[in-house]
Amino acid sequence: MNSYDIAVIGGDGTGPEVTRENIKVLDAAGQKFGFKLNYTEFDFGGERYMRTNEALPDSASDDLRQFPSILLGAIGHPDVKPGILEKGILLRLRFELEQYINLRPVKLFDERFCPLKGKKAEDIDFVVVRENNEGLYTGSGGFVFKGTPHEIAIQESVNTRRGVERCLRYAFEYTRKRNKRKNLTLCGKTNVLTYAFDLWERAFHEIGDADYSDIKRDYAHVDATTMWFVKNPEWFDVIVTDNMFGDIITDLGAMLQGGMGIAAGGNLNPEGTSMFEPIGGSAPKYTGQNVINPLAAICSGALMLETIGEEEAAKAIEDTVISVTREKIKDLGAGRMGYSTTEVGDLVASAL
Ligand code: IPM
Ligand code: MN
Repeated sequence: MNSYDIAVIGGDGTGPEVTRENIKVLDAAGQKFGFKLNYTEFDFGGERYMRTNEALPDSASDDLRQFPSILLGAIGHPDVKPGILEKGILLRLRFELEQYINLRPVKLFDERFCPLKGKKAEDIDFVVVRENNEGLYTGSGGFVFKGTPHEIAIQESVNTRRGVERCLRYAFEYTRKRNKRKNLTLCGKTNVLTYAFDLWERAFHEIGDADYSDIKRDYAHVDATTMWFVKNPEWFDVIVTDNMFGDIITDLGAMLQGGMGIAAGGNLNPEGTSMFEPIGGSAPKYTGQNVINPLAAICSGALMLETIGEEEAAKAIEDTVISVTREKIKDLGAGRMGYSTTEVGDLVASAL
């Protein structure tokens, strides 16, 4: 029987609650499909930060590297200044573990939950491949004359040929493997960011011409992309973009699929340790109330199984989430589901 060692960072707020339901469903899938998951918990998050004054111990990345996958609940604590935990935990792990892909599927499970008029479930089914280690997120830049009327703040977008190329190659491979419309859209801003996206665009076509003649290529500026998301989401199959644009368009994508209650993502290092998370925050005001929607976390668990090669089980979880969403769930928002957090986990686990 296959067995996998999984690191678990429940994190802050409602993170631990949704992670428990994720594990409940993963274990049910393991029983059904014949694999075992062994969990090791890490207490990283706001509480630990306030106790120890460090966001992550220096050993964290080396410890986590021993695991093929990490399940992350949520990071963000109301008593910790914004930015400290996000940068000190989430971004640091993405960088140190070289999770250079942020894979964010956007799929509408039930048309009732789509804010767009007249769109059916099959109209919204695409995947964003967000570069996850470079761009505006590296922290490159600084202040000059800080605090004076002459203050200058510079925040630089870092785009290396290596970083861009490995992201594009992943996106081409993913589009091929997904085997839907075999269409890859580069989302950029070539009309203004004439250095960064010049590199992206050249690499996109060079790699496409050389190795992926079976994949259709498309380009859209990021502003137009947001327009097409709303007007014609059915045009998209796979979208590849930089870190910042990927951050922004995937929040819009999450809304198209019904909100943060259902949106999941994977921070992937295809050669190393990947980390899976519901993309919503820690929702501190709902902590401990058993009302938060665990479906996004459960979908991130399915993404983990797909990534480690338990594809049949991943598909089964997704299919079950779809049927539970269609048949039972009243609303995807916290407190409005018609069921508690634990009941939704039970519904998925038992339907599986
Ligand atoms: C996300 C989040 C993070 C990001 C924040 C919390 C640093 O918005 O995962 O999309 O900007 O990447
Ligand atoms: Mn974001």
